[in-house]
Amino acid sequence: MGTIKTSDKDEIIVGTEKFVPMLSEVEIQKRIAELGKEISEEYKTKLPIFIGILNGSFMFMSDLMKNININCEIDFFKLSSYGDEKISSGRVKLVKDLNADITDRHLIIVEDIVDSGLSIKYVEEMIQSHNPASMKVVTLLLKPESLKYEVKIDYIGFKIPNKFVIGYGLDYAQKYRNLSSIYVLSD
Ligand code: IMP
Ligand code: MG
Repeated sequence: MGTIKTSDKDEIIVGTEKFVPMLSEVEIQKRIAELGKEISEEYKTKLPIFIGILNGSFMFMSDLMKNININCEIDFFKLSSYGDEKISSGRVKLVKDLNADITDRHLIIVEDIVDSGLSIKYVEEMIQSHNPASMKVVTLLLKPESLKYEVKIDYIGFKIPNKFVIGYGLDYAQKYRNLSSIYVLSD
């Protein structure tokens, strides 16, 4: 069904549910510029590979990369975890593997959001078996109250409450990824 792009509206109605603005495009871009600067500085003597976790991270990955001012490479994993709704299935499946040879390379995993931590833990374990030189994780959003797995997140855009969010890559039943800001389910 084709509805118009809903970016920057005051609210987004999905059936009986209402989403309200949480992080504006300006706030997001400002924070990404800071993250890009910090990561560029830390990796300036290395040639890191940024590894985006699809689908959710595509927009963050794109904007982050524009703020990286050192040489780097890019690759993607595709995971499927959430099914189509708001609650995680608790299972993660690898849908697309990396193309790059990551042995002895410096890796930066790029996530849209860390919720329970299951996806990141799954990716970390898969990657460690290939013996990279180093591995760090950057996520735009982290829900600290929601973490169930022990994971180390090295760069965090924003810590947010344990509430469902959409926009800027994040979906609800595969929709709303194209919004340029982030909305939260209001209660
Ligand atoms: P985790 O494996 O529980 O940490 O969940 C990570 C993945 O679930 C993210 O990469 C997202 O794709 C998805 N996810 C978690 N929380 C949300 C949310 O609030 N909105 C949309 N997707 C989410
Ligand atoms: Mg994701």
